[in-house]
Amino acid sequence: MSNQRVSMHGMWSSRTVFVMATIGSAVGLGNIWKFPYITGQYGGGAFVVVYLLCIALIGIPIMMAEILLGRRGRASPISTMGRLAREEGSSPAWSLVGYSGVVAGFLILSFYSVIAGWALAYVFQTAGGALNGVTGESAARLFGDLTGSPVQLMIWHSVFMLMTTMVVARGVRQGLERAVSVLMPVLFVMLLVMVGYAVVEGDFARGFAFLFEADFSRVFQLCTGPAATPECRFTGEPVLVAMGHAFFTLSLGMGAIMAYGAYVPEHASITGATITIAVADTAVALLAGLAIFPIVFASGLEPAAGPGLIFQTLPIAFGNMPGGQWFGTMFFVLLVFAAWSSSISIAEPAVAWLVDTRNWRRAPAAWLVGALAWLLGIASVLSFNIWSGEEYQVFGKTFFELKDFLASNVMLPLGGLLIALFVGYGAARHMALEELAISRQRLFDAWWLVIRYVSPIGIAIVFLNSVGVF
Ligand code: TRP
Repeated sequence: MSNQRVSMHGMWSSRTVFVMATIGSAVGLGNIWKFPYITGQYGGGAFVVVYLLCIALIGIPIMMAEILLGRRGRASPISTMGRLAREEGSSPAWSLVGYSGVVAGFLILSFYSVIAGWALAYVFQTAGGALNGVTGESAARLFGDLTGSPVQLMIWHSVFMLMTTMVVARGVRQGLERAVSVLMPVLFVMLLVMVGYAVVEGDFARGFAFLFEADFSRVFQLCTGPAATPECRFTGEPVLVAMGHAFFTLSLGMGAIMAYGAYVPEHASITGATITIAVADTAVALLAGLAIFPIVFASGLEPAAGPGLIFQTLPIAFGNMPGGQWFGTMFFVLLVFAAWSSSISIAEPAVAWLVDTRNWRRAPAAWLVGALAWLLGIASVLSFNIWSGEEYQVFGKTFFELKDFLASNVMLPLGGLLIALFVGYGAARHMALEELAISRQRLFDAWWLVIRYVSPIGIAIVFLNSVGVF
């Protein structure tokens, strides 16, 4: 038994509830919206292989580290890092990991909510029959009309941020816990049905090959322009983005999982939970890819279409399949739920910190965090219309792209690196040994090796490579 601390924010009622809530956090827009569109942009198979490697060698070990720190510290990520650094005789500067996580959380929430807003808008479009019989062209027009309208985007962004804030204000336990454990399995089954549709109606062979046939010359290449006549340049960017996405999709590197880990019961197995979560998350992403790319190719669309990819392809399926109006509406409702159970975890570290160190009550803390992220989100809304032009871009990126890049590809891996270093070097080995309580010594030794060498060196190499050191 490592300690008898309990969290002041409440506890999960069982390990299963923790696993479900963490799957709720992990499975979201990252899997269904972001994974397909960046896989399309970065050329398919080779990108997927790098992403899977990052999940296995960096994501899973760091998720175990985050959960064990969270459970050991039993507080908000900032307080947990400070508390454990003190106990382990390390520098108080480790709590910077927590602060950087709070900042990353604001950046992510401020665009996550806007994209979730698109999904909300599509619930109503689909239910109202706007997708019936759409073609590739009309689907693209529909999407362009939505994203071209700052007013509409603002409305949906505001609605989603309100939904998020309301749940966070009530506390995670009473929040989405129960809804998620029913809805996520339904989403999974619906994805299977959509893959079935893609097999029958799409160009499944080509979609499958695009996802799983790796052309390794593409690992360090970024190609733009139409797929037939691409312009390619040599760059480490695809690897950086694949690694960043491994963090993003597993909700790692900013304390969200640490915050959830703080509410984990004492005797739950961290290793088993982590593997379940990572497998579920990866399965959803790959299914989403299998549902989308066959339609992309069958309809002659560009895989590299960007953030609108799923909103331009899935409507074609829903608009033309029998019962698609009903099925599509269900799908977007579930996508909203998946995004909802993720966004609450993005806000949780900041809220938990205001509660446990500033003595705020939970509700006002949640409203303050929600309001700030909402304000910052206005820049994401405008990135798709008024501010989409070059004169509003920084380093050739819109505000949306900039926030995503900075948070996902820089701050999350950096946070993950520091978490690995703290567990591997800043704290004593027996801390991890006690918390993980892995009965097979070999398994612990393997994890210990990975968390001390493989993950940190891997992250460092990708960073150095992407700033052009080699
Ligand atoms: N993992 C979620 C998704 O894939 C998003 C998310 C939730 C997240 N919490 C996070 C991303 C914390 C980074 C950090 O949609």
